[in-house]
Amino acid sequence: MNAHIDFLLERNSAPRLTEPAPDANALNVMLKSAFRVPDHAGLRPVRFISIENHRLGALGDVFEQALINRNPEASESQRERARKSPFRAPMIVVVVSKITEHPKVPAEEQRLSAGCSAYAMLLAAEALGYAGIWRTGDASRDPFIAKALDMKENEEVVGFLYIGTRTGEPKGLDKKLPEGCLNCW
Ligand SMILES: Cc1cc2nc3c(=O)[nH]c(=O)nc-3n(C[C@H](O)[C@H](O)[C@H](O)COP(=O)(O)O)c2cc1C
Repeated sequence: MNAHIDFLLERNSAPRLTEPAPDANALNVMLKSAFRVPDHAGLRPVRFISIENHRLGALGDVFEQALINRNPEASESQRERARKSPFRAPMIVVVVSKITEHPKVPAEEQRLSAGCSAYAMLLAAEALGYAGIWRTGDASRDPFIAKALDMKENEEVVGFLYIGTRTGEPKGLDKKLPEGCLNCW
């Protein structure tokens, strides 16, 4: 084994996060990593929206309104949960896929590449001493939220990366390979 392999095998998500969030230099490295992923025809089918501390409340308001739009009967506790959900990290990076018409690269391949970018960003954050977790849920498919984030018609939320510094006990990692995950043909 070597240090790179150890790093890959130890990587894990952090649902409990606190300050500090990555600074501008760290975010820059994370972005560069995100643009070093496999990308058929070099379409660069991804972009990012960073939402830092002072804007998390505004995002929470958008999440709450989106919930009310989806479910006007939502209870006060459901609304509060939606409103407070961005505060689970000091920074959220929204990973947005940008789908371009291309004769050789279908939309699905572009979404896969954008997903690789999300993972690369998490890996880079972890390599820099931060941590994060990839979340989606109803918010990632909600047109009201997409509009509030100024997303275009050809864009989709790949995930909300909650990023900061890990708190809490490290979890045990399941390193066993799933039964039947490799077949020789
Ligand atoms: C596309 C995608 C969407 C996800 N959405 C959520 C989510 O909304 N909420 C959540 O708790 N975990 C979500 N996860 C799972 C976590 O990111 C994480 O992988 C999981 O908690 C397992 O932890 P680990 O990465 O340390 O193995 C999602 C993962 C992926 C790939």
